[in-house]
This record gives sequence, C-alpha cells and structure tokens, in this order.
Amino acid sequence: MKVLGIETSCDETSAAIVEKKNGRKFGKVLSEVTVSQINKHKKFGGVVPELASREHSNNIDFIVQKTLKNSNVNLSKIDAFAATTGPGLLGGLLVGTNYAKALAISCNKPFLSINHLQGHVLVPRMSRVIDFPFICLLVSGGHCQILLAKDYNKFKVIGETLDDAVGEAYDKIAKILGYDYPGGPIIEKLALECNGKYHFNLPKPLIKDKSKNLSFSGLKTAVRRIIEKGISDEQKFDLANEFQTVICECLISKVELAINSLKYRNKVNSFILTGGVASNLFIRRKFKLLCKKKGLSFIAPEKKLCTDNASMIAWAGHEILNRRKKSSNLSLSPKPRWRLDSL
Ligand code: KG4
Ligand code: ZN
Repeated sequence: MKVLGIETSCDETSAAIVEKKNGRKFGKVLSEVTVSQINKHKKFGGVVPELASREHSNNIDFIVQKTLKNSNVNLSKIDAFAATTGPGLLGGLLVGTNYAKALAISCNKPFLSINHLQGHVLVPRMSRVIDFPFICLLVSGGHCQILLAKDYNKFKVIGETLDDAVGEAYDKIAKILGYDYPGGPIIEKLALECNGKYHFNLPKPLIKDKSKNLSFSGLKTAVRRIIEKGISDEQKFDLANEFQTVICECLISKVELAINSLKYRNKVNSFILTGGVASNLFIRRKFKLLCKKKGLSFIAPEKKLCTDNASMIAWAGHEILNRRKKSSNLSLSPKPRWRLDSL
C-alpha cells in the first residue's frame, strides 16, 4: 500500500509517499519533498497567513509532481491520498485538502482527512513497535499538550498550555533578541555558550500547581523585561540557558505528574516526545533521564520527522486505512481548530 500525504497547515509545503508492505508493521518513506517558507516570513518575525496560503498555492503542484518523480511511482499506483485538514491556517489547509481530494476523485481512490497533531503523535510508529496506550508530550510552534494515546484515533488531553506554546515562546524570545524565525534552534545554540556566571531568577509558572497544565507567557514577559534593560553577549548566553532550563523543568514536572496520575500505569510502557521542539537535544536528554527514572522507554522521532513534514501525514493515513478501509467524506471542510480529543 502506498499513501501520498500532503501537509500545508503552516509554513511548510510538503508531500510524501509512504509505503507499507502487506503484513508489515512499519512504513518506508519512498520520497518526501518539503519546501519551507521560512525565508518569506523571516522579516515579519512569524508566519503571515495570507503569504503562506499564496506560497502553498504556488508550490503544491510542483511539489507533488516532484515527490512522484523522486519515488518513481506512477499516480495510478497510489492507494490513498491523505491531507492535513486541521488544525492550522485555513488558507493553507484549503490548498492541501482540495488538492488531495481532487487526486482522490480523479484516481478513484480514498481521500483521508488527517489531524496534524495525530500525524506528530503517530509518526514514531512508522519505524518501531509502540503499543497503545502510550504517553506523549507534543511540543510545537502552535501546541503544547500532554496526551494519553489510547489508540490511533483516541486521545486524552491530560494537560496543556493555558497560553503560549513552547515553540512560540522560543520564537518570541529569539525575536526580541533580534534573531530570525524560527527561534528554537537559535536559542538552543546560544544556551550552549553559557558559562553560568549570571543568574536571572526566572519564574517557573504553575510549577507548584497541582494541575497538569502549563503556562509560558509570564516567563516570556520576564525574559523580555531583562532583555529590554540591555544585556551583554555573555549575559545573553546565560539567559538563553536559564530560559531553556526553566521551560524544561516545567515540562518535566508536569509530565511526571501526568505519569504518576495514570489510572492504568502498568499498561503504559512508552513516552513519546514529538513536535518541532522535540528536536531540541537538551530537552531530549532531560526527558530520557525522566523516562529512566519512571521505567518507560523514551522515544522521539528523528529530527526531520519532528518538524512539520508530509511523511507523518502519509503514515497517519496508513494507520487509518489499516482499521477503516473507506474514504473520509469528500464534502468535509478543513478545521482551523480541531482538538485531538474530538477526533
Ligand atoms: O512542529 P513544527 O514544525 O510546527 C508546528 O506544528 O508548530 O514546530 C515548529 C516550532 C517552532 O516554534 C520552532 O522554533 C520550534 O518548533 N523548534 C525548536 C527547535 N527546532 C524547532 N524549539 C526548540 N529547540 C529546537 N531545536
Ligand atoms: Zn506541527
């Protein structure tokens, strides 16, 4: 079975073909073509929705054709067409959804509507056995959720951010420091230069709170005030490190609370860290230690599968096709807001 996936929910136009052989559990990416719009949005310090829609619309045809060509697969050999139909920016979602629907109709094959977050959560199952239920921290530019994945389409949100997403906080701090979007990798690099000379006593929002929810806007404001007063390069390195450490402490403490409160703790064997922020090596290391302490296997996708990509959408398509052979409704509209617990 070959599924062609399309991802256009934010600032990456991506298409991929993932193959799963009969009786096999895993998938193989035959080809993926991803065009990032980062350079178009850089000067605005974030993604401009209308600009993003235009870019998706301009690039989608070329990207899908190139994916087919790179994999040497003829369109007639594709078994289903999957597209991100939410959550995300409506203009981009419309481009990918309509393109996939049109291909599905013209080839008389199923169209599969995929939730972007479901793609992030399920993608590690493309290359290794991970049984449900598992616990997952999804950290990206738009989301920060602690989830219990009970099945390929059943998710419980155990905790989530009440304001900013983690990637968003990284992006905003980098912007205040004068760096380009995306800020996550830049802050991670700055933090590596720290020498621990300066301490800023940054707040750790909700850390003492019994709930499993998170909050990052107060932390972001505290960092902004420090930067606005003027800081040296040396201070900047230490500040980036403290910011990242505090974020990580908050995430770890809430995930630990979530693990401790699981109803059927002995049925959960794995923890998955996923989403764009999961490519951060510092955060990965800390969660590996937590998993060791809790007796869970630590799993994070390889870096290129952490940030937005169409392979995860094609793989989610396979997961759906495995259980439910039929097409999604061709008349469905993309959903800019679409919670994982409402699949
Ligand atoms: O999953 P993703 O590609 O897009 C969304 O679905 O949002 O995540 C993008 C986010 C950006 O905010 C970016 O700054 C962050 O992931 N990110 C990182 C790192 N690499 C990307 N944050 C922290 N450390 C990184 N190394
Ligand atoms: Zn994403």
